[in-house]
Amino acid sequence: MSKSTPEHFLLSKEEMKTYGYKIVDILADHFDTLCDKTVVTQGNRKEMDALLDDQLPYEPSPADKVLNHVTRDILPYTNQVSHPKFYSFVPGPSNFISAMSDSLATGFNVFSGAWTNSPTASKVEIITLHWLLQMFGFPIKKGGGIFTSGGSMANLTALATARKVRLGEDFSKACIYLSDQAHSSNIKAIRVLGFKKEQIRVIPTDMEFKMSINKLKNAIAKDTIQGLTPFCIIATAGTTNTGTVDPLMEIAKISKKEKLWMHVDAAYGGGAILSENGKSLLKGIEKADSLTVDPHKWFFQPYEMGCLLVKNHKWLSQTFTEHPEYLRDTEGNTSEINFYDHGIQLTRRFRALKLYMSMKTYGLSTFKNAVQHSIQLTEDLEDLLRMSPKWEVISPATLAVINYRYNPVNYNLSEKELNTLNEYISKQIIKAKAAVLVTTILQNQVVLRMCLINPNTKMKHLKDTINLCESYGDDYLKNKKTSVDN
Ligand SMILES: Cc1ncc(COP(=O)(O)O)c(C=O)c1O
Repeated sequence: MSKSTPEHFLLSKEEMKTYGYKIVDILADHFDTLCDKTVVTQGNRKEMDALLDDQLPYEPSPADKVLNHVTRDILPYTNQVSHPKFYSFVPGPSNFISAMSDSLATGFNVFSGAWTNSPTASKVEIITLHWLLQMFGFPIKKGGGIFTSGGSMANLTALATARKVRLGEDFSKACIYLSDQAHSSNIKAIRVLGFKKEQIRVIPTDMEFKMSINKLKNAIAKDTIQGLTPFCIIATAGTTNTGTVDPLMEIAKISKKEKLWMHVDAAYGGGAILSENGKSLLKGIEKADSLTVDPHKWFFQPYEMGCLLVKNHKWLSQTFTEHPEYLRDTEGNTSEINFYDHGIQLTRRFRALKLYMSMKTYGLSTFKNAVQHSIQLTEDLEDLLRMSPKWEVISPATLAVINYRYNPVNYNLSEKELNTLNEYISKQIIKAKAAVLVTTILQNQVVLRMCLINPNTKMKHLKDTINLCESYGDDYLKNKKTSVDN
């Protein structure tokens, strides 16, 4: 490619093709061999400092050299979140069609903030939002929504909307209710919006990790008596820790009776709506005023793609519309949505395209089967663990999440010893780069948590990992016994 000139950003068509084809080859190879790759990466700051030169590059470098450097030194050093043995947090099972769609959206640099700028992008966003509204039983004509960078931004957008619609400008006496299992992004959002800590009511969960309805009712009653303004309940449909769905029907009833805003955070669990048993678990989700779902989780999209759905699209424009003079010529009629009026961002990438193209290409039935596979697989794993005298299931398979711990019956280990043992197993699995399997804490117990939403995860992967966990666990117990005997 040419040396630095004022036109340096211009590549010839042939140069672009050569470069682009190389990237397509790299990606096709990546997707093709992903299941055989090492899922875990580790690298401390010192190692990364040694690996990557951070000099400001004043002079140009050959494109191939930079590309080779990136494929050799950068891309391999990330955990493979789409790998079948990435079991932790919420995995990111992406798909090739969406990855390519994202390249098109980026390549064309579509600005999807204003209708006048890109009417088709706005229309595709409306279409894909309608698909989601339909799936979740929200009204299509009256309802609305917006794609965001992820669930955290969708929750923030939802709570900003709720505050504006229900409270206007004065929210000093308002109280918000959410369970101790709600995702931290909700607390972050509440704080970003300027609510004080004293306005947040963290409602304890019951033995099944569901928000306690009795405690919720008590908290609302207490606040009302004290002259405060109960305002919003955040229910979770698919908690991050256990996959639990809060009692949505009962929460909806309370919200209606007390005139509270009902927000449902289904960032992770929302995808389950596609399967029959998921749908029945999520019953009541259609009653929400606002709903967060993350297509970059269980709708198999690459990062970043979150989504907020609302019962009434006017709530969004009511919350986010400003009329700066420099945008006066982009203001059209209300049916021609300017998505910058429906959320926080003005300049927005064309996120809807990847959901649109992948849904059309694979068909909803493929998405459904993938979700159903994961739910079934998690239940099968639960059966397997329950049949073994070595494992204890701590929270049952729920929306593709399961928590368990190694607790061989004949050892009579104390809670403290069990915690140390399970932490050890997780650390060893990661050290061996065999899987990403980290711990969480449930009712003071350290547990191994799996979130199995990747359709490429099969029983053979799970059995491999469980067997390896057992061998690390047994080694640990043997060594412990030897040191006690000595
Ligand atoms: C229930 C829930 N809500 C919100 C989020 C945050 O979503 P994101 O990471 O896309 O911002 C997560 C992420 O795991 C989640 O599980």
